[in-house]
Amino acid sequence: MCRAGVPPSPKNAALTEAVVTADSHRDESDFVVVANRLPVDLEEQPDGSRAWRRSPGGLVTALEPVLRSRNGTWVGWPGASKGEIEPFVLDGLRMYPIHLSKDEVEGYYHRFSNSTLWPLYHDVVVKPTFDRSWWGTYREVNLRFAEATARAAAPGATVWVHDYQLQLVPAMLRELRPDLKIGFFLHIPFPPSELFAQLPWRVGVLQGMLGADLVGFHLPGGAENFLALAHRLLGLETQPIRDGVGSVECGDRTVRVGAFPISIDSAELVEQARSEKIRARAAEIREELGDPEHLMLGVDRLDYTKGIDLRLQAIGELYDDGRLDPAKQVMIQLATPSREQVEQYALMRDAVELQVGRINGEHGQLHRPPVHYLYQPVDREELIALFVAADLMLVTPLRDGMNLVAKEYVACHPDHTGALVLSEFTGAAHELHQAYLVNPHDLDMVEDVIVEALDADPAAREERMAAMHEQVVENDVHRWAARFLDALRRSGD
Ligand code: ADP
Ligand code: G6P
Repeated sequence: MCRAGVPPSPKNAALTEAVVTADSHRDESDFVVVANRLPVDLEEQPDGSRAWRRSPGGLVTALEPVLRSRNGTWVGWPGASKGEIEPFVLDGLRMYPIHLSKDEVEGYYHRFSNSTLWPLYHDVVVKPTFDRSWWGTYREVNLRFAEATARAAAPGATVWVHDYQLQLVPAMLRELRPDLKIGFFLHIPFPPSELFAQLPWRVGVLQGMLGADLVGFHLPGGAENFLALAHRLLGLETQPIRDGVGSVECGDRTVRVGAFPISIDSAELVEQARSEKIRARAAEIREELGDPEHLMLGVDRLDYTKGIDLRLQAIGELYDDGRLDPAKQVMIQLATPSREQVEQYALMRDAVELQVGRINGEHGQLHRPPVHYLYQPVDREELIALFVAADLMLVTPLRDGMNLVAKEYVACHPDHTGALVLSEFTGAAHELHQAYLVNPHDLDMVEDVIVEALDADPAAREERMAAMHEQVVENDVHRWAARFLDALRRSGD
């Protein structure tokens, strides 16, 4: 049980062997990260007890090592709606929790963020809903984050605001604390004009982001869309991207705009993937699965953007057609539960589980299902062992800002084994050119490419993996953060 105001010890994953203490000094920080979620999530168990778990998603995977190396404060929601939690220190990381009521979680998180913005920014793969009351809650919660950040930041501090849930924070924070250097980074795609212009609150969102000194996207396309919209909808003068950075003239300020493709803590993953312990576990996993000739792997949050259903359809058809043999080719699909209160997520879960059931029912044998499916987050070490064990990684989103899973898989193959099937519609595809690229909407293509990758000459596969591995090791998350923060420091020069 959790004592009032003092968080309980976390369990599970990288952060979870950490020591949790109350942040008794509460000094203001020179470096503050602001994101919807803290890197740990307070879960209420059915028996009423509470436990910290690592938060889901790529944003936390990327930012946790960055904050750790820069000694700052993380402002975010602890994921539980009951009661305030005082600032605390977790394994050396300073956490500044923002309390949200049940109604705020509903209007701001489930609705405006994840039923309006998320589908709109991901190519409307499901229809976004526009509701005035959700916008009101989004604004109120963004103001709460801005006010808390204004309290957490030291004079002249650098504040880095993250993602679509907090697009209004930069301008609100600038009002409260004009002395701060403010950066904003969007972790999901930024849509073209025709889509963004559907948003009834489009002007407010753009003005919110323009409160930053530097606005960053994964890809040049996102930055170009933003510049075009600032000109078209706000009538502001813009400079196109040159040497990676463009700008918007915003009154007496110049806001820089650029592309900064995010990455992972590659060195840490390479080290783990090479360790005896992980290699032994990887071998054990294969043995437990009956030593298949090929192990295929999918690892995603259960999100309709990830193309899990299309991937399973392709795998099912390959078994149906005898192009894959369930005795030789086995698949593991991990799906982290995500946003379960949003209807489309529940529908997608049902669709995926129906497909897994059908494939296993038609092609499995006792103790030998061809598709092993887990709807749960797995421990980080186990995940790395799975990446090491897999011969083929399937990453098939319909749209994804970056997709760190693709980079994690590549980092876990320093021996250049393995192959990556990767959707063209991920940010990662702009860097991992040597992957087996697919259009996930084209099932024939996905099926052919899976077979091609499995049958490929090992030397050719190795060559592809070697090039991708070099790319991922060189362009890691620390380089990403340094590039963004250097550009932020230079903004205003
Ligand atoms: P997103 O941020 O949209 O979820 P990314 O691929 O960028 O997608 O990042 C997902 C992160 O979550 C990765 O670090 C990945 O390893 C992790 N992850 C995904 N599924 C699981 C799982 N079932 N168990 C543990 N970690 C997971
Ligand atoms: C994506 C988003 C993040 C989000 C993560 C997990 O990576 O860009 O902002 O934190 O998904 O989603 P959740 O809704 O559980 O925070």
